[in-house]
Order: sequence, then structure tokens, then C-alpha cells
Amino acid sequence: MCGIVAYTGPGDAVPILTEGLARLEYRGYDSAGLAVVGRSGDLRVRKAAGRVAALAASLPARFKGGTGIGHTRWATHGEPSDDNAHPHVAGTVAVVHNGIIENADELRAKLRADGVVLASETDSEVLPHLIARSAAAELEDAVREALSQIVGTYGIAVVDTRHPGVLVVARNGSPVVLGIGEKEMYAASDVAALVRYTRQVVHLDDGELATIRPDGFRTSTLDARATRKEPSVIETEDAAYDAEGYTHFMRKEIHEQPAAVERALRGRLDGRFHTAHLGGLELDPREARAIRRVKILGCGSAYYAGQVGAQLIEELARIPADAEPASEFRYRNPVVEADTLYIAVSQSGETYDTLAAVQELRRKGGRVLGVVNAVGSAIARECDGGIYLHAGPEIAVASTKAYTSTAVVFALLALHLGRIHDLSPADGRRIAEGLRALPGQIEEILRQEDRIAALAADLAKYRSMLFVGRVRGWPVAREGAQKLKEVSYIHAEAYPASELKHGPLALISPDLPAVAIVPDDELLDKNRSTLGEIRARHGRVITIGHTDAGEDSVVVPKNEPELDAILLPIPLQLLAYHAAVALDHDVDKPRNLAKSVTVD
Ligand code: AGP
Repeated sequence: MCGIVAYTGPGDAVPILTEGLARLEYRGYDSAGLAVVGRSGDLRVRKAAGRVAALAASLPARFKGGTGIGHTRWATHGEPSDDNAHPHVAGTVAVVHNGIIENADELRAKLRADGVVLASETDSEVLPHLIARSAAAELEDAVREALSQIVGTYGIAVVDTRHPGVLVVARNGSPVVLGIGEKEMYAASDVAALVRYTRQVVHLDDGELATIRPDGFRTSTLDARATRKEPSVIETEDAAYDAEGYTHFMRKEIHEQPAAVERALRGRLDGRFHTAHLGGLELDPREARAIRRVKILGCGSAYYAGQVGAQLIEELARIPADAEPASEFRYRNPVVEADTLYIAVSQSGETYDTLAAVQELRRKGGRVLGVVNAVGSAIARECDGGIYLHAGPEIAVASTKAYTSTAVVFALLALHLGRIHDLSPADGRRIAEGLRALPGQIEEILRQEDRIAALAADLAKYRSMLFVGRVRGWPVAREGAQKLKEVSYIHAEAYPASELKHGPLALISPDLPAVAIVPDDELLDKNRSTLGEIRARHGRVITIGHTDAGEDSVVVPKNEPELDAILLPIPLQLLAYHAAVALDHDVDKPRNLAKSVTVD
């Protein structure tokens, strides 16, 4: 969703802001804008509904400045329009804002009563007016005063022509990262906008504010207590944000999975005790033994990967485990138990529903681990400990490599907990060997891409599809249906294969193909009889499993049955991708969806 970039230094801010905004496009947006303080001290603002490239192309040559802020907007208050685009301006002050101001109506009414004319329908526009009205001598104090009147979430960047060379940024529930350069400074809502310029970053905490000048920065809390920040180094290479010859990021990320899984495993398997070492867990063996239950929370694909994780933990560690959408959990006044281990799953580490679930859990004294991809993200920082995926940046809206890496990380966690409980060394070794085999086996699946693409092109003619699976195949079916609908817009519904005869069998007809997840495990015979029931009703069946059943089947290599749910989704990712390509959709930016859902 929304993105922020800011710069102050000796260079021209404009290309840095436009390039930075282009790097944030993957998050989803509908309008873009810039404000720069010109060398003569004047404020120059350009904003418009539409793409960053169009905005950049519309800028006159004289549109330059040494200090500036930029924004990509995802509409929440008011339609996508030039007026509603950020930056919002009041006199000498310009502000870009991510997040939602909950008391905006009240603040807008107060400003109007005082004679202020508001130019947009947005909640964000109150901010520059509140800042501009402050009598404080320092911009930082004016921003602090304004924020004390705000209820809601924000990541903001502010410039004021009365304070040349100064940027003020602040964070509450919406990320802000500072980038440290050579006598120049940057800020952004996502390191993706910074990696081209610097690798030294500082993540602001909620309730923190920073005043940035070209030669440095100082941070403090909203109540003006100074804070100390240690810079960290971004690991990711700039090239990771490029499509590198692929037509779509989704396909690039599908093909990155062997390497991503290798990174998720690197240094984590212990050949002596046949277990896994997970540095950030902050859970000693005694504490691990005291866990009576595991509850996994995430949204969308992160939730389905969490369901795979719950099954792995229950199977290997024999600890009761289940997964629930974080978006439901947070609203149902959950009972929080001291001997339950809660695990929040998120690729972006920013999903608001998941963050809110974590905050609710921590407020009630729950112990929460994060399984997160984005280093230093809000969810990672909020948790008591956790495991990073190290999948590298995921740009396509449809999650692929992060989903697979999450499932792998859960297998490691299940192995670790299992070996503390009753999983035998022999079974530990068996699972560890299975995990080591995954990258090569993923390569084998990817080599079948042409066949899967042909199958996808044929399936793209249907308006609706059914995905079925049993036990380990059930979260796989759900993830397969999710991928297909997200990028191809073909209606897809997932059902446990065991539930078909309790209702959905009525839907079966030649117009509704069923994609069946049929691993060669102890449930194969049961699955075969379900497929028989579908075929008897003239339904087309496409099988994803270990048996070659001709044209309408994709065979994945055999691994340990417990790890089936890691390999089986990969053909489904390719199926969804190629169906979307056959239908000529914008695969990386599906309609109505954003990469990170950072709003309530
Ligand atoms: C995945 O394909 C989806 N785009 C979506 O379901 C996503 O997994 C979900 O919004 C959670 O995102 P997160 O992992 O960044 O928290």
C-alpha cells in the first residue's frame, strides 16, 4: 500500500524521489506526488492520480530541490484524484502520510470552524495544517504538537520552507526507515527505496520521531526524550529488486525458490543430534517442553503456510497445533494461555491484521514468535523472538517463495521441537535429509514448466475451478485456489476432499474442473475414491501428486510424506501464473490487491 521516500542533501532530490517511488510501486498505489524545497527556498509540489512514470515525465526541468518528500497513495479516504494525492500542503509545510487518522473528521471540522479551507477529502490533510499552526520554533516540536492531537496510525515525512535542509519523520504503526549516506540522508517506508543509495539504515520504533539533516539525524520519543539508535546493514542486493530478465516478478520469484529454500536451511540443520538450530527463538529446551499448544496466526497465504506449519508441529513434535486467520483472531477476544506458543507469520512483517493480533497477544501476556521475511519490520520487532525466512524481497503481489520458505521454516521448527520431545534421532535424520533434498526437487518441478503452462492455457477457458485435498493436501488445495483467483481472476474454491460428499459434489459437472492434491501417502486410496466420485459425475480431474496419470497430471518428486505440503504447491503456482499470462492479466499487480495490507 502507500509508500514514502524522502531526501535531504547536496544532490537534486527529484530523481531520488521518483526512483524511490518506482521501487515502491510493487506495493500497490493509485496516485503519486512530490514536494521539494527549491534552492531559493520555495516549495514546489506536483501530484496526480496515476503512475509514477507519468508524474516524473510531467515535471518541468526547473522542478529541482535539495530537500524533498515523495509518496505513492492507496486510497482509503476519498477517491484516487489529483487533490487527494499526497503531499498535502499548508502554507510553508508539506506532508506525506501512510496510515489512517481515526479522528480526522473531528479535526477537519475544527480546522474548518477556524476558517481553514481544506483542498482534499483525505484524513492526511489535517497534518500540514496542524503543523503550520504551531508556534514552536523547531519543526520537530511543531510536528510533535500536531501528532499529539492525532488518534490513529502514521508514518510521515515533513518539510517546511522555514527550515531549509530539514526533514522530520515520525512513526506510529506504519514503518519509517532512515538511510545514512555521505553527507546526505534518506528516509522511506520500505528499504526497497533506499538500497540503491545506501545500505546503512536505522528503523524507527513506534512513537519515535527523527529530525534529519544532510549531515546526520537525531531521534526522540513523542514526549521529547532523546533515543539512541544503532544503524544496521541491509543484506539485500539492489539487483534483488529487479526483474532480471523475467517478464514478471512472480515467475522470477517462483524460480528463485531453490535458492530461497537453501537460504532458509543454511546453518540451521544439526547433523550430530539430527535437529534444527534456530538462533532467534529465545526459547530454551525447558521452556520448549512446557509448551502445551501452538497457535499460528497469519493472513491469506501466510495463514495457509501456517496451517502447513501447524500440521508439521503436531506430526513431528506431537504438540496440539492449529492455525487461524489473524484477521479473525484479533476481533474475537481470544483466550490467551500462558503455556501456548503463539506464532505470527508474515512475509512483509507489516500486515496490519497480523500486527494487531500480535499486539493484542502481547498486551494479554502471550508469548509470540514471528516467522517473518522482512528484516526489522513491525511484526518482527513486536515479537518476543522469531525466525527470519531470508527469502529475499518478494515483489509480486502473489506470494510464492515466501510461502514455500515459511513452510520450510516451520519444518525446521517442528524438527527442533520434535527432537526436544519424542521424535527419534532416526526420524530426525530422515526429516533433515528430506529438507536437504528440497532445493534439487524444486528444480525438478520447475523443469516441467512448459507442460504446466500448456495445461494452464487450457484450463484458463473455465470460469470456475475446485481444489481438493485431504489432511496434508488440504492447506495445499487452499493455497492453490488462492493463487489462481488472485492472478487469473478465475473463481476457485478449495474443499477438503473428505467434505465433497457433504455438499459440493452437487457442483460437479464438465464445466467445473477439479484440481486434486493426491500425494502417495496413507490417504491415497481414500483420495482415489473421491476422484472416482468426481469422474463418475463427468468432472474433469487434474491431479498433483506422485503418480503419472497422463496429460491431466503433474508429478512432483517424492520426499518424506511429512514434507509433501512444501513441494505440492509449486506446480499450482506455475498453473496460476500461466493461466494469468494466458488471460493477459497484469500478473504482478492483480486488480484490487496490494502487496502489503497495512490498513485496518
Ligand atoms: C498472497 O498471495 C497474498 N497476496 C496475501 O494473501 C498475503 O499472503 C497476505 O496478505 C499476508 O501478507 P504478509 O505475509 O505480508 O503478512
